[in-house]
Amino acid sequence: MRKPCIAANWKMNKTAAETGAFLNEFVPLVKNVKDVDIVVAPPFTSLYAAAAIVSNTNVGLAAQNIFYEEKGAYTGEIAPSMLTAAGCSYVIIGHSERRQYFKESDETLNKKTKIARKHNLQVIFCIGESLEERESGRMFDVLKREIEEGLKEVEAAGIIVAYEPIWAIGTGKTATTEQAQEAHRYIRERLAALYGPAQADEIRILYGGSVTPDNIDALMKCADVDGALVGGASLKADSFSKIVIFNR
Ligand code: 13P
Repeated sequence: MRKPCIAANWKMNKTAAETGAFLNEFVPLVKNVKDVDIVVAPPFTSLYAAAAIVSNTNVGLAAQNIFYEEKGAYTGEIAPSMLTAAGCSYVIIGHSERRQYFKESDETLNKKTKIARKHNLQVIFCIGESLEERESGRMFDVLKREIEEGLKEVEAAGIIVAYEPIWAIGTGKTATTEQAQEAHRYIRERLAALYGPAQADEIRILYGGSVTPDNIDALMKCADVDGALVGGASLKADSFSKIVIFNR
């Protein structure tokens, strides 16, 4: 049985003070939720402030990025040990914004995933097709490549996959439940080819792209949707708590 995971990706939003204000409101709202892994991913500069509030609660902490070396002359990058020291137990890798704006390749993302797992960080590994890829019939090829290249030589344990169709991110255009289930089913088949069906059955596949309190219930009813990666609607404690407390 897969335990749902619902994660907030704040992207480039919230100072440390704003992070503190959010979490002081949010943590009490979800304190009784035991059947969902709740995760927040603030910017790097807010991680220590966040950890001070969420440590010893049911809210886990994620970084939004990581670098693939242990330390050294990599100006502007953040090492895995810095994330674990700051209280992170998760990291988001391969978000479409990283792939698109920062040209992160499958190979780079594979290196990041490997070092994150070496440091025992749970990886929320993001994949997803653009509208053009979907409309030209290449969606399944893109998802297959992103999984096979990104998770090459990586064990199944500690991997969470997030399916985020790029056309649904920040657009208010959520995938229909049929579209989400079709993609998630396919992703699980690819994971089964990589890891075998038993391990693939354990991997959580989150949906991301315009998730709100209004559409979370329907998405969570899909057989292969095991949670959500939420952008815009995770920036307010009230709306993110409603997503976490979806209708079971
Ligand atoms: P939105 O929920 O704002 O569409 O963002 C989704 C996302 O990219 C989460 O990583």
